[in-house]
Amino acid sequence: MKPTVDQELCIGDGICEDLSPEVFELRDDGLAYVIDKDPDESVWPTIKEAVDECPTDAIILESYGGDEEVAA
Ligand code: F3S
Repeated sequence: MKPTVDQELCIGDGICEDLSPEVFELRDDGLAYVIDKDPDESVWPTIKEAVDECPTDAIILESYGGDEEVAA
């Protein structure tokens, strides 16, 4: 599972970093970035939670097969 953040959509809410700090980081520009592009399976639930909680649906998950899995 490969998470990405669409910085065009991100409004810097920060819930992603709160829920999954191993994977998401808010930077000086106020936007979230993925700091672990190949996260361990153990943190996947926190990533999915971040996807659900992000107010602008800025977090996208892709399966390793390359298909877009979740955009919600
Ligand atoms: Fe941005 Fe959504 Fe995280 S708005 S800071 S990607 S919770």
